[in-house]
Amino acid sequence: MQKITIDISKAESFLSAGAVKGLASNVLSQQQKLHDKSGAGNDFLGWLDLPSSIAADHLTAIKETAARLSAQSEIVVVTGIGGSYLGARAVIDALSDSFDLLRTNRKAPVVVYAGQNIGEDYTYELLDLLKDKDFSVVVISKSGTTTEPALAFRLLKGLLEKKYATDEVKNRIVAVTDKSKGALRTLADREGYQTYVIPDDVGGRYSVLTPVGLLPIAIAGVDIEQLVQGARDMEAATAPNVAFEENPSAVYAAVRNLLYQQGKKTEIVVNFNPKLHFLSEWWKQLFGESEGKDNKGIFPAAVDFTTDLHSMGQWIQQGERNIFETVISIENVDKKVEVPTDKDDMDKLNFLAGKRVDEVNKMAELGTLMAHVDGGVPNIRISVPQLNAYYLGQLIYFFEKACGISGYVLGVNPFDQPGVEAYKKNMFALLGKPGFEKETADIRKRL
Ligand code: PA5
Repeated sequence: MQKITIDISKAESFLSAGAVKGLASNVLSQQQKLHDKSGAGNDFLGWLDLPSSIAADHLTAIKETAARLSAQSEIVVVTGIGGSYLGARAVIDALSDSFDLLRTNRKAPVVVYAGQNIGEDYTYELLDLLKDKDFSVVVISKSGTTTEPALAFRLLKGLLEKKYATDEVKNRIVAVTDKSKGALRTLADREGYQTYVIPDDVGGRYSVLTPVGLLPIAIAGVDIEQLVQGARDMEAATAPNVAFEENPSAVYAAVRNLLYQQGKKTEIVVNFNPKLHFLSEWWKQLFGESEGKDNKGIFPAAVDFTTDLHSMGQWIQQGERNIFETVISIENVDKKVEVPTDKDDMDKLNFLAGKRVDEVNKMAELGTLMAHVDGGVPNIRISVPQLNAYYLGQLIYFFEKACGISGYVLGVNPFDQPGVEAYKKNMFALLGKPGFEKETADIRKRL
């Protein structure tokens, strides 16, 4: 098997000579802090050796649950938000047929999402769809108290109870949550739902390789063994005994920190494949929530090219020069479409005849890279040999490891998210949640 690779040559040219090498020993010592568990947030490092510690029978159990839910459901509603949502969606969207919903020969149930927003029209439309379908629910919340998924789950559970007998309802719900704490754990134990545990030492955004991600991904028919194998191989490829230049996570962490120090405050993750849209969303959360604190942190942004070249391309080419790009490039596409010859050539496209659509895409990618570098945008290129479960597993672990190292290089705790609580406190105060009486009184004075 090949490895995903990183090309920093078009970023290094924006840095002083030897800068990356100069940061190498610091980067490796920050990485060592992860492995020694001697840095900030060291009680949330369970993800570090997670791939190599996942037992085969754990994956078998997840696959059995996925098969049971799939057999009884036209639709499975995956209910969660943030780290309890984005990883699963990233992998499922990357590996599913783009027109899956419209296929009649589907092998897996349709996976839809709830609890990742509080949109009433979205919620109404989902409940309206589900009332005439056979469906099951996977509800995911580590804390077991997050408002968005809890609210969605209350509604979904109510609908299941209207449609099915008590035992059947129980068979149609699986909860993924803490082993002992939180309202979801209490509810699941009382109702007798099947449950999976999120390990204490794995935070939400690092949890895609726990049942948080693996169960929905298995339901969608993706090979979770291959996903974990990819992550396992990347765990080995970024181990402490690997030289800096050979460790893609260390190199990526070094370069993005050096660019940040030079005033490149925004990193735009770029794909040339629409299936990667949610991988970028997952990446945004991983880096944004991990690094954006103590008045520091690269702002993580994302674009889908070539689509967004027609909306954001101008800004990237000629706007303020405070950005750099990280392109996730898929080397080989196995679904082939060739451009046909047209005898009249009215559209003047015969110069493309005989070429694959992916060849056109690759030239768009190369042309964009050259244009943006010429326009003053440093470029990091991550090459992924193929879009499949194995390489996605590599990519996920690559980014997680890079994020842990990068956060330490930046000097923040990459494993907490104290800032996320601020909006919740205000929302609870505004909604009059019991226990928030003082905050309610304070906030009313401000209105
Ligand atoms: O990364 C994180 O910790 C967060 O994004 C959480 O995953 C998110 O807030 C959901 O939390 P929970 O799983 O407790 O419902």
